[in-house]
Amino acid sequence: MSDDRELNHEYDGIKEYDNPLPNWWLVTFFATIIFAFIYWMHYEIAGGPTLDQELAVAMKEIETRQAHAPKELTTDEVYAEIAADQGRLQAAAGNFQAKCAACHGPKLEGMIGPNLTDSFWLHGDGSYHEIAVVIREGIPEKGMPPWQELMKESEIAELTAYIHSMKGSNPPNAKAPEGAEVK
Ligand code: HEC
Repeated sequence: MSDDRELNHEYDGIKEYDNPLPNWWLVTFFATIIFAFIYWMHYEIAGGPTLDQELAVAMKEIETRQAHAPKELTTDEVYAEIAADQGRLQAAAGNFQAKCAACHGPKLEGMIGPNLTDSFWLHGDGSYHEIAVVIREGIPEKGMPPWQELMKESEIAELTAYIHSMKGSNPPNAKAPEGAEVK
């Protein structure tokens, strides 16, 4: 057998055959050495963060995100679904008469609290989200109670969709506009 990989010596009939490692293997092998060196420099010499420190940073980020995330999971699509569901709107209308009409009027026209059917808003822009925030958190210093402890989130979502659906309903004896106009 003559092969240029065969090394030119023989002992008791045993020949040595030079079979080089494949390049892909060598590249991978040297890459691991380089990686290990950089890894070691970063974490042992250059003071890279330990796993505990990385965890602490990640936890902090989760906490700040949670603090800033809107409390609601109800999306505009969900509100629109409720608004298309007569049964749920009826339930909300009943709830409104029981809990809100005393201040906002039976037709949402406004009494102690503002008219909820016009395009003027004291708080937010009359979007589903902003209405829900006011219902949940209230404006306690101005006499609008917070409802999040007193109602289920689904009831608040239904009331939100109900109020939104009454926009522009022009009830008689409407209270004068308050707040900024939203076009
Ligand atoms: C005790 C009286 C009272 C009750 C009961 C009440 N509200 Fe109000 N509400 C107010 C007042 C007063 C304001 C205006 C706050 C201000 O001037 O900043 C208000 C504001 C609002 C606003 C914001 C209006 C705007 O122009 O930004 C919404 C929405 C609202 N109320 C919904 C409700 C709903 C829904 C209920 C029933 C679950 C309810 N309110 C019950 C007194 C009340």
